[in-house]
Amino acid sequence: MCGIVGAVARNNVVPILLEGLRRLEYRGYDSAGIALVSGGLRRLRTTGRVAELGKLVDEQAFQGETGIAHTRWATHGAPSERNAHPHFSAGATKVAVVHNGIIENHEVLRQRLQVAGFEFLSDTDTEVIAHLITLNLRKTPDLFEAVLCSVAELQGAYAIAVMEEARPERIVVARNGAPLLLGLGEHGNYAASDASALLPVTRYMIYLEEGDVAELRCDGYRIVNCLDSSSTREVMRAVHESELTDAAVELGPYAHFMQKEIFEQPGVIANTLEMVLNAHSISPQLFGSDAENIFKHTDSILILACGTSYHAGLVARYWLESMAGLACNVEIASEYRYRDPVASPHALVVAISQSGETADTLAALGYAKSLGHRHSLAICNVPESALVRQTDLRFLTRAGPEIGVASTKAFTTQLAALMLLTMTLAKLRGKLSSEHERGMITALRHLPVALQRVLQVEPQIKVWAERFAQKRHALFLGRGMHYPIAMEGALKLKEISYIHAEAYAAGELKHGPLALVDEDMPVVAIAPNNALLEKLKSNLQEVRARGGELYVFVDADSPIQQSEGIHVISLPEHAGLLSPILHTIPLQLLAYHVALQKNTDVDKPRNLAKSVTVE
Ligand code: M6R
Repeated sequence: MCGIVGAVARNNVVPILLEGLRRLEYRGYDSAGIALVSGGLRRLRTTGRVAELGKLVDEQAFQGETGIAHTRWATHGAPSERNAHPHFSAGATKVAVVHNGIIENHEVLRQRLQVAGFEFLSDTDTEVIAHLITLNLRKTPDLFEAVLCSVAELQGAYAIAVMEEARPERIVVARNGAPLLLGLGEHGNYAASDASALLPVTRYMIYLEEGDVAELRCDGYRIVNCLDSSSTREVMRAVHESELTDAAVELGPYAHFMQKEIFEQPGVIANTLEMVLNAHSISPQLFGSDAENIFKHTDSILILACGTSYHAGLVARYWLESMAGLACNVEIASEYRYRDPVASPHALVVAISQSGETADTLAALGYAKSLGHRHSLAICNVPESALVRQTDLRFLTRAGPEIGVASTKAFTTQLAALMLLTMTLAKLRGKLSSEHERGMITALRHLPVALQRVLQVEPQIKVWAERFAQKRHALFLGRGMHYPIAMEGALKLKEISYIHAEAYAAGELKHGPLALVDEDMPVVAIAPNNALLEKLKSNLQEVRARGGELYVFVDADSPIQQSEGIHVISLPEHAGLLSPILHTIPLQLLAYHVALQKNTDVDKPRNLAKSVTVE
């Protein structure tokens, strides 16, 4: 989603703003812009990439010591230069605004502002904010006060950065429902949507909280919180030293972040499991100091998530039911938040999210709490995210920054975390014997090595990818806990190669989708050596009998052999309950190599954003 960078420094901030935008490119965008004061408030905007904005900046010798910059992912209004941020509004002074989020009451505000004489030059909800600030500047000459008055009238989710022509030595930022942080540097102060944007200038960050409005000057800052509009007050926020390294957000020897992130999986799974790998038993403490008490009273699980994180939840349902004997509901967050579900006070709500900023997941969690769910756990990859702050318990996956829009290492680390949760609950419920516990820990300990071995199937995947690149549709089949893995494989393929891909529980095939099968429809099947293999084999026969070409991922010693119309890639070993984690890897590689064949933008697929901070 949109990316924001702001800077107030003693030197020219343009290189800092452009580098910040470049580092936020992974979030997804369709236009970019920058504003600063240099002989008046000026801006440059483009529907091209950040590199093109850089060329414009060079051509126009754009320089200044205070500036705001933005990458826009279109919500209100097409991706065009006139809708690109920053948006301006002119009154006694001229203001510039960049914004991430959606202003839900923008139509009402727009009408009011038009009556007050403001002319709108874009179709965006953001321009409303710019004019509202100008309107409020008629009541107070102080930009900070004007922003405070303005945000009080905004409904919806936003992070904004504002600057003005008359007093260019500061910027004002505000956060409500979309991520924003401050960076405190030696030569200036900064704001950005995430920490990676500011690493070249500082490691010292303040994560703004909901309702925070901050003024940034070169030599200082102040923050007030206006969540409770009756008592706006100055607040202190902790300064964190970021542990992110530049290496974590650089490509290194890889061609794409997605490739890098696929190959990082053995290492990040080891990091995520670090606390149990050297232990002989598992402890509820992994999830927080209150976990044991909460888990003891947990009688069911409600999982809320979107996209790939939702698929992780679907796998966990199989584990939680079979190992811990717990009833488990897995809900798409954007659906759950608008249903009338019946809350169960002893259900543990588990919100899963890579970013911890997904608007639907945050809203679904809030809704679950409002319905009477008492306890919640976040499984999340970003320690400072909104999600982590909103739950009683948390488990941080340690995947490191995931830059590719297509989620890979976040998914497998989520699965590792969910297995730890399942084992912990099973143990507390007397369903995990010491022997089984030791066996599972041994299997987890082996997982990084097993993943490393699976990655070696890449050359065989490349051969398949050449064939897939010619196709327009694909089916993915799985059974049991590998059905969600089929869903994840289909999502990966469609996301980055733009091939239409659908996943089915293999037993469902004859209830409809079989009608689609012919020689032009490749059918990918996930066929591990488990109790459902014989059933799956019958389903695959149904495909083959209709001329469908099968691409089957099996385990070593599988009875399924390569033959006419049946292509087989064998994974080196069978991982029992952890098999979904291993079987994910070849599907990620398949999507990646098909996308390479099709020459698509692997890390930034069209129309998609990394962190979906709007509804
Ligand atoms: O950050 P989150 O895990 O909450 O994101 C949820 C989805 O937006 C995300 O998984 C999306 O589906 C990915 N692009 C899938 O690769």
